[in-house]
Amino acid sequence: MEHYTIRVYPDPVLRRETRPVMDFDQELVELARNMEEIMFANDGVGLAAPQIGLSLKLAVVFYEGVLYCLINPEIISSKGDDYMEEGCLSFPGIYGKVRRPLSVSVKSFDLDGNEQILHAEGFLARAFCHEIDHLNGKLLIDHFSPMKKSLARKKLFRLKKEKGLGEDE
Ligand code: CO
Repeated sequence: MEHYTIRVYPDPVLRRETRPVMDFDQELVELARNMEEIMFANDGVGLAAPQIGLSLKLAVVFYEGVLYCLINPEIISSKGDDYMEEGCLSFPGIYGKVRRPLSVSVKSFDLDGNEQILHAEGFLARAFCHEIDHLNGKLLIDHFSPMKKSLARKKLFRLKKEKGLGEDE
């Protein structure tokens, strides 16, 4: 099994453009399984490929006992408005309220390459939006006010300095 680590902001891979999944093969199945394990090991509810350093349109979400695999996902419709606190494995210790739709329909592919439409509400809709943001290089703190964003960035730059992690974005 390949060893991946969670990439923490300001790791530049979190901003990099992602490419669509083209090959629905055994390698993809193994990668998705790998991501599930990393998500569970870190108590996350979702994980997107850029968060383990891969610029690929792939994310996993686990909610109420169901595992969702989002491949080349696209939000095709959304409704309502909801304002709730969110966190992210790439932003340890950072939480903030983010406005999201109350419900979404997402077009995606499953691991066999079949197109599927997923309907989600509330927390699950929020999780889907958060992961799809990742695949577009958009991050938790981009939803914060400029002041809150700047405080969060400072906190993580400090953390990075202490740990001597990676490069800046
Ligand atoms: Co995240």
